[in-house]
Amino acid sequence: MTADLVDRLRQVVGPTAAISDPDDMSGYLTDWRGAYRGRAAAVVRPGNTDEVAAVVALCAEAGVGVVPQGGNTGLCGGAVPDLSGRQVVLSLTRMRRVRDLDVANQTITVEAGAVLRSVQEAAAAAGRLFPLSLGAEGSCTIGGNLATNAGGTGVLRYGTMRDLTLGLEVVLPDGRIWNGLRGLRKDNTGYDLKQLFIGAEGSLGVITAAVLKLFPAVRSRATAWVALPDPQAAVDLIGLLRELAGDRLTAFELMSRQSVAFVLRHVPGARDPFGDPHPWYALVELGDALPGADLDGMIESALSEAFERGVARDAVVVAGSAQSAALWTLREGISEAQNHEGPSLKHDVSVPIGRIPSFVERTDRALEDAVPGIRIVAYGHIGDGNLHYNLSKPAGSADDEFQAHADALARVIYDSVAVVDGSISAEHGLGQSKRGIIVDYKDDHELHLMRTVKRLFDPHGVMNPGKLLPDQPGL
Ligand code: FAD
Ligand code: MLT
Ligand code: ZN
Repeated sequence: MTADLVDRLRQVVGPTAAISDPDDMSGYLTDWRGAYRGRAAAVVRPGNTDEVAAVVALCAEAGVGVVPQGGNTGLCGGAVPDLSGRQVVLSLTRMRRVRDLDVANQTITVEAGAVLRSVQEAAAAAGRLFPLSLGAEGSCTIGGNLATNAGGTGVLRYGTMRDLTLGLEVVLPDGRIWNGLRGLRKDNTGYDLKQLFIGAEGSLGVITAAVLKLFPAVRSRATAWVALPDPQAAVDLIGLLRELAGDRLTAFELMSRQSVAFVLRHVPGARDPFGDPHPWYALVELGDALPGADLDGMIESALSEAFERGVARDAVVVAGSAQSAALWTLREGISEAQNHEGPSLKHDVSVPIGRIPSFVERTDRALEDAVPGIRIVAYGHIGDGNLHYNLSKPAGSADDEFQAHADALARVIYDSVAVVDGSISAEHGLGQSKRGIIVDYKDDHELHLMRTVKRLFDPHGVMNPGKLLPDQPGL
């Protein structure tokens, strides 16, 4: 039956775009971290929306689960199939066209497999900005960004993918195509269906194209690297910058010393801007559409006030893109650097910004009690209240010994998140990693509504079975 399905899929997408050889499929069956591995009957790479629709219809008819995949950079196992070897991975990477760029409407219409960086570049070539920005932007795709409601470093100014999207085209679980590719900023004609597919992690349908918002290009920029005594100082500094620069504050990232130390150890060319280590650092960026705006002046005023109040301990303000890129390496290199230190247990949480200091203090203490010597790599988009609480084993200890604590350590962090009414996933999603534990941290009515939505859209469980919730209909 599976061989027959693979033959029929091959007829739809062409002989080279349906892969079933285990060696050729291997790159699609493991995630970026190597934390999840699966098996599949085939990997199919359709070239257009009609082909996606035909693939999904064939899988639905055969009772075979479909796992959508973009750049496979997701961090919770959402794009990796299960171990049954029956599921079909549907890779969107051949669908990467810019279908339209409408300068008057400030929109760009792109296919789901377009790599984020190529969309940023297309916008820049038209003198506009597509502001989503994250460490994996050279390989993650717009479809994956939408399906995970990706955030990244520009959220405090521009919002997440939910805020950046005006319309979607989606292949539904029975193979029908919903054309919701509207570029309207105002549309009050009932439920906003696109928002259900955004953040659904491929559980309700395959996103094939999107209309995205564009913004004025940033023509002035200033970047600073600031040493801080503690997270409270970061919260205070954000307040100062907002007072002085308003919405010119385009990024505010917080990093613990442990996070930066891993980058300095593992990323070639990374350099500490200061002679002495400090407990915490902030990477601050201001941007303005006006050329020649005095952003350095604004950052310097905020910093001099911060020094006076004891909020900042040291700072460098850089002009020029090369120096700014060097500072961003210290931030964006953290994920990759941590991979060199053994397993990285990822926790991606959000809490109200003002409660970050007490959250960090409580959580660090509880983690250290649970595993003495644990290395806590806490960092993230603190301007959005989003911290990545990633954990590495105590130096010199064994990987599997540390992995054995994974569930207990996740509970330590999530219980601490619950104290301040936060979320156990700020941006990466539930995927495989949190699909079980989410039921302990989400309201029962919310869970019931989520299950009802899933059953309504996908009663037979064709789309991404085994992800998001533990008890979805699944094949
Ligand atoms: P994939 O990994 O291929 O898929 C992710 C999920 O989306 C899966 O559930 C998959 O089934 C589903 N999916 C993919 N394409 C489609 C589609 N067309 N239709 C329906 N479902 C689909 N994330 C952030 O939010 N912020 C960050 O700052 C950030 N930084 C990162 C840094 C690094 C170094 C890495 C490796 C990852 C980072 N991520 C971050 C996580 C990840 O890159 C993003 O979630 C990204 O949006 C995933 O895109 P992708 O194309 O790789 O999706
Ligand atoms: C990041 O912001 O660097 C990623 O979302 C976090 C991670 O890799 O855990
Ligand atoms: Zn992040």
